[in-house]
Amino acid sequence: MHDAIGGLDCDEISTQTTFLGRRLKAPLMISAISGGFAAARDLNRDLAQVAQELGIAFCLGSQRPMLEDPSRIGSYAVRRYAPDIPIVGNIGLQQAAAHDPKDIARLVSSIEADGLAVHLNAAQELGQSEGDRSFAGGLKSLRALARLLPGRVMVKETGCGISREAARKIKAAGVSILDTAGAGGTSWTRVERLRRGPGPSAGPWLDEWGIPTAASLWEAAPFDFKLVGSGGIRTGLDAAKCLALGADVVGLALPVVRAYARGGRDGARACLRQVISDLKAVMLLVGARDIPALKKHNPVITGTLREWINHRSRKPK
Ligand SMILES: Cc1cc2nc3c(=O)[nH]c(=O)nc-3n(C[C@H](O)[C@H](O)[C@H](O)COP(=O)(O)O)c2cc1C
Repeated sequence: MHDAIGGLDCDEISTQTTFLGRRLKAPLMISAISGGFAAARDLNRDLAQVAQELGIAFCLGSQRPMLEDPSRIGSYAVRRYAPDIPIVGNIGLQQAAAHDPKDIARLVSSIEADGLAVHLNAAQELGQSEGDRSFAGGLKSLRALARLLPGRVMVKETGCGISREAARKIKAAGVSILDTAGAGGTSWTRVERLRRGPGPSAGPWLDEWGIPTAASLWEAAPFDFKLVGSGGIRTGLDAAKCLALGADVVGLALPVVRAYARGGRDGARACLRQVISDLKAVMLLVGARDIPALKKHNPVITGTLREWINHRSRKPK
């Protein structure tokens, strides 16, 4: 809500927060993108450096290649480029469930990360002709990882969002950080359809599957997670909306990939600087001096999100 007489000075607006025990200058994270092959070495080094400069968090792409062949650690070992920021490792829940939890926990210590993102991607797998078809054993694996890495496991979707029911199960497994990664941004189900090989897989209806990011934040907000909002975040205004809907940190993947593809490290830095400066502008315009004030802001919700909330707030029959 616009505050025409907020009385703030741009220079006094603070976007500081904390995540995984470290200080962030802005409540942003470069979401999981890549790792495990030669070109990812430069990408992850450059993105880690940008994250360090801007004081934001960095989540690595899936460490599955490194789990299968430890000599592929190189592209994930970015701590020396980013000594102060939260660095988050990454593995798929199905890979985690197929391995000894101690081996999965070592993915974090071996690259001096602060935490581990465990990604959920059932819809993406169903869109691949060669993808997984069994998703059993995931919660058991999450419970074991949450015990081994207390306060350091982040469960994330990959573009289909987290419902209230899923959030409840993840919380009960002992996980304390949740990244909604809702629908509305990168659609991995669509990517899989476009690159699909021969063999059976789900049809085009899967392109649009999932819980929109804003709705997913509303679903997950009551569970007292450290909450990351992501999936289709493209501007500082999107980021501000996530924070007002309950997120503590906001993640972006595709805009960073695109900016890096066009302009390398400088491109990625400029893209993220723009998001941060726009977030500050929104904070000034709504009269929020800092992130706690923005999180207390009561946003006006209309349209389909309002319908979603009304429907989901009804008592079950
Ligand atoms: C090129 C690319 C690669 C990705 N690789 C991973 C990955 O390895 N692990 C993961 O958890 N998510 C991965 N993601 C998903 C993102 O982390 C994020 O959840 C999703 O793309 C939604 O954010 P966006 O709309 O800002 O892209 C990837 C996304 C992109 C664009």
